[in-house]
Amino acid sequence: MADTSILVVGQVGRDLVLAVKEVPGGGGSSDVRERRELLGGKGANQAVAMVQLGAEVELLGVVGDDAVGEELLRSLDRDGVGHRWVRRRGPSALLVDVVSADGDSRLLEDVPPTSVLTVEDVHAAAEAFAAADTVCLQLQQPVGALVEAARLAAAAGARVVLDGAVDADRRGLLDAASVLRADAHEAGLLAGRPTGDADAAAALARQLVAEHRLDVVALGVDGGDLVAWPGGHRVFPHASGHVDATGGGDSFVAGLVVGLRAGTTPERAGELAADCAASTVARLGGRPDLGVLRPG
Ligand SMILES: Nc1ncnc2c1ncn2[C@@H]1O[C@H](COP(=O)(O)OP(=O)(O)O)[C@@H](O)[C@H]1O
Ligand SMILES: [Mg+2]
Repeated sequence: MADTSILVVGQVGRDLVLAVKEVPGGGGSSDVRERRELLGGKGANQAVAMVQLGAEVELLGVVGDDAVGEELLRSLDRDGVGHRWVRRRGPSALLVDVVSADGDSRLLEDVPPTSVLTVEDVHAAAEAFAAADTVCLQLQQPVGALVEAARLAAAAGARVVLDGAVDADRRGLLDAASVLRADAHEAGLLAGRPTGDADAAAALARQLVAEHRLDVVALGVDGGDLVAWPGGHRVFPHASGHVDATGGGDSFVAGLVVGLRAGTTPERAGELAADCAASTVARLGGRPDLGVLRPG
């Protein structure tokens, strides 16, 4: 696969991770025990994770036309993520992750309207879609941009991967997709009822696989992740305890995609995905460190 790559379509921003003993209530305050300022955003975190797993990755997203944007591009460079399609305008997005000692986290997201993708941004990156064998779409991006991205990906014959909440507007994307991943909350929204129970999630996954001809559906469930494919499924239980669950899903997607792309079975790809998620939730912040999990 020398000339092809993964294209990740999603958010890029500055992550400010603040570790506190306890998250204060209204009117309270708390000393910060540790502060990390990192390249972040779901798009960047997925892209970095995939590079760490050995893939060649291009990112389509937006960074600010500011000093932070400059720094984010340098970080992408250091991480080996292709950023020739990353647009620059407005202020950079800022994501603040406040994490308590027991692993409970609060996320504050300043996502300026200029920092999300437009249909024009997608068109301007048409070449990137043509070169990709796999396109990962983060469903938090505006629906118009996602629909156009799915159309270009399909035209290129690329595998389309969706991650996030499939609301009514985004439902049509399922027919363009091969892989869907949703966390437990997002899976419940899609089903219109709670699907935390593994049997309920398996029923939803079976229905999605059949109705939309999906190759793989991964859904968060109570205490684990379910991975389903035509004819089977498996639940991967979470390791006990976590430092910060932020970014667990993004690393999960990265493992799943890299595994499938290497031609392994959905079950084996699910194993890698679960290992990647477990590694990232054992760390503060959403930034992955997956080098040791790189498939041989
Ligand atoms: N011990 C754990 N506790 C909580 N989450 C875990 C644990 N181990 C792994 N995870 C992963 O974290 C994921 C969270 O997904 P998601 O909410 O999409 O995260 P994000 O969007 O921040 O990347 C779970 O689906 C799971 O794969
Ligand atoms: Mg997620």
